[in-house]
Amino acid sequence: MRDARPAAILATELRPSTATLPSVPVEAYRHNKNWLDAAERLLVNMIADEVRGEPILDLGVGAGRTAWILRILSANYVAVDISPEMVKTCREEYPGIDVRQCDARELSMFGSCSFGLVVFSFNGIDVLDHDGRLLAFSEIHRVLKPGGLFLYSTTTKGGPNYDRRPWNISSEGKHISLRGHKRPTRFLRFLMHLPQLLPRYRRTYSNWWERRRYEEDHISWAIGPLHAHEFGVLCHFTLPSTEYQVLDEIGLSVITMLDSDGHPVNDGASATKWFHVLARKRVNPEPPASPRDETAGSDVTSSAALDSG
Ligand SMILES: C[S@@+](CC[C@H](N)C(=O)[O-])C[C@H]1O[C@@H](n2cnc3c(N)ncnc32)[C@H](O)[C@@H]1O
Repeated sequence: MRDARPAAILATELRPSTATLPSVPVEAYRHNKNWLDAAERLLVNMIADEVRGEPILDLGVGAGRTAWILRILSANYVAVDISPEMVKTCREEYPGIDVRQCDARELSMFGSCSFGLVVFSFNGIDVLDHDGRLLAFSEIHRVLKPGGLFLYSTTTKGGPNYDRRPWNISSEGKHISLRGHKRPTRFLRFLMHLPQLLPRYRRTYSNWWERRRYEEDHISWAIGPLHAHEFGVLCHFTLPSTEYQVLDEIGLSVITMLDSDGHPVNDGASATKWFHVLARKRVNPEPPASPRDETAGSDVTSSAALDSG
């Protein structure tokens, strides 16, 4: 029987696993620089006129893949990441931009209704557990201006990245089937490289084994090990209808959801690894003001503008 783990424990375990991943992911994200998938290109074009010059918050910026395009849209740009390593890497890649260490679940350094656009790209929100994600959504709603936009992507429950097993993963982290090894050349190549691959296989299997104990399936969403980073990360998986409902309850109306090729998705879209969501903070009714509204929050508009260089 699986361990029944309270979400809060999962969250504290996820946080260090994100922040202290070995340098490989940092480098991997550095190499993603300046790349956008087809849906991101479409969506950025769609919102460009509306958010041009608006204050923009880029959550989980990593090595800054999205910084260049968002900075074209607005010099009033601030990026955050929970990982000090990522913050350092992003500052190295984009000297002069405002990059801060901050947890998306606790954005008290930013005032309410500060941003015209908040971005959380490349499924970064999915390393949070379900409650952590809800906290992040609620903070994002708080810091958005009424009518402001939220753009993020999230991993599809039932999609190709869901419920993967180490024996389906090649040494490069790609999907393989046992049928592939029936080809003699491939099998020979596999045997030749086996000694070098063994440590990686050992890590992959042991990470998966350790994390599969925390698997949860709630039908409309799930938690499980993600094959990326040698199964070193637990991931939240979700469905388009779940996101629609969760965002709606928080006060965000979905405008569109697209797969990475830019096609609209619904719950049957099991062929897509992740999907992008564009939502808008509803102008009315406004949620009750939180105590944080009066006390916390620097004026990000002016501090980001100062740094816009
Ligand atoms: C998959 S990477 C994506 C990086 C970048 N946005 C991109 O598109 O290449 C996810 C990033 O989210 C960051 N992250 C994870 N949890 C976070 C949190 N609670 N608050 C802020 N950043 C977080 C991670 O450190 C990591 O840099």
